[in-house]
Amino acid sequence: MAQTILVTGGAGYIGSHTVLQLLLGGYKAVVVDNLDNSSPIAIKRVQELAGKHGPNLTFHQMDLRDKPALEKLFASTKFDAVIHFAGLKAVGESVAKPLMYYNNNLIGTIALLEVMAAYGCKKLVFSSSATVYGWPKEVPCTEEFPLSAANPYGRTKLVIEEICRDIHRADSGWKIILLRYFNPVGAHPSGYIGEDPRGIPNNLMPFVQQVAVGRRPALTVYGNDYATKDGTGVRDYIHVVDLADGHIAALCKLSDPSIGCEVYNLGTGKGTSVLEMVAAFEKASGKKIPMVLAGRRPGDAEVVYASTDKAKRELKWKAKYGIDEMCLDQWNWASKNPYGYGSPESAA
Ligand code: NAD
Ligand code: UFG
Repeated sequence: MAQTILVTGGAGYIGSHTVLQLLLGGYKAVVVDNLDNSSPIAIKRVQELAGKHGPNLTFHQMDLRDKPALEKLFASTKFDAVIHFAGLKAVGESVAKPLMYYNNNLIGTIALLEVMAAYGCKKLVFSSSATVYGWPKEVPCTEEFPLSAANPYGRTKLVIEEICRDIHRADSGWKIILLRYFNPVGAHPSGYIGEDPRGIPNNLMPFVQQVAVGRRPALTVYGNDYATKDGTGVRDYIHVVDLADGHIAALCKLSDPSIGCEVYNLGTGKGTSVLEMVAAFEKASGKKIPMVLAGRRPGDAEVVYASTDKAKRELKWKAKYGIDEMCLDQWNWASKNPYGYGSPESAA
C-alpha cells in the first residue's frame, strides 16, 4: 500500500519539488502550509506535473502553530512519516525580528512533534542547513564538524536539531533524519515550478535571475577579497531536484531498523565561486549580468562545501546535476515565469 507522507511547508520552493518527486515515486502526500511565503499555484502545478498521480496530493492551508487543526488532521489521517520544511528562512529578517523566527520555527516544530507523538507517528525528516557549520575551519564539511549559529535563523536550526536528538534519546521509537542542505538552486526542468521569493531576494541565484529578466539593474557581489580562486565566496550549489530526491532516499532510510537520529549533508561536494556561478548563468541564459562590487556581507563565510561521503554510503544518494544544468533550469523557469507565480503588479 502507498505510504502517506505529511509534508509541512510543501507549497514552498524545496517542498513543492519534493512533493512532486514523492508523487512520482508512488507516495501519497498531504501538504500543510500557511502560504506565508508561497503560492497555491505551486500546489496546482505540482498536481498537473504529477499526471495520473496528481490526485494523491491533498493540500491544507494551515499554520503549524494551530495545534487543534493539526490534531484534527492527524485524527483523520494515518501518516507513515513527516517531512518538515515549514519555517521562515531569511537570515537578515531573523536578525531584525528574532522573536518572529523563534515563535514560528520553534513553536511550529514543537507543536508538530507533540502531535506526532500523541498519534504515534515517530518518523521525521527535517530540513536543517549548512548554516550550522558557521565559518568552517576546513572543508569539506563533515557531519561531525563543530556546530554554531551566527544568527537567530541558524539558531532555530541548531535548537531543532538538539530537540530531535533529545526526543530520540528519551524514546528510541523515534526515527529521525536531519538533512543539512547546502545551497539549493535551479528548478524543475519543466520550468513549471521554481523559487519565487517575496520582496528583494537574499540569495545569489534568485537575485541573478531577477537581473536577467530585467527586474533589478545589477547584482551586488559581496566581497572580492576572500582567499579563494577569484576572491569571491565559494559555496556548494545543489540542484533542487537532486535535493528533492535526497528526501526520498531519507524516507527509505527511515525504514532501516538501525536508524536513530541521524544527520546527513545534502550537497554536491564541489565549491563554486560567485563569479563562476554568474558566468555559468550567463552561458545558460545568453544574458549579460551587470555586477557591482561591494564589501563583504556580515556573517558570510569564505568557503563552504559538503563532504558527501556519508549520504552516498548510507542513503545511497548522490547529486546528479552540475552547475550548467542548475543554471539552464533556473533560466528556463525564470524566462517562462519572470514574475514567479505572480504578476508584475504583485511583485516588489
Ligand atoms: P520556502 O519559504 O519556499 O518554504 C517554506 C514554506 O513553509 C513556505 O511555503 C511557507 O509558507 C511555509 N511556512 C512557514 N512557516 C509556516 C508555519 N508556521 N506553518 C505552516 N507553513 C509555514 O523555503 P524553502 O527554501 O523551500 O526551505 C524549506 C526549508 O528548508 C526551510 O525550513 C528552510 O529553512 C530550509 N533550508 C532552506 C535553504 C535554502 O537555501 N532554500 C537552505 C537550507 C535549509
Ligand atoms: N552573494 C552575492 N550577492 C548577493 C547574494 C549573495 O554576492 O546578492 C554571495 C554571498 O556573499 C555568498 C554567495 O553569494 O558568497 C551565496 O550566498 P547566498 O545568500 O545565496 O547563500 P549563503 O550560503 O550565504 O546562505 C544560504 C542560505 C542560508 C543557508 C545557507 C546554507 O541563505 O540560510 O545557504 O544552506 F543556511
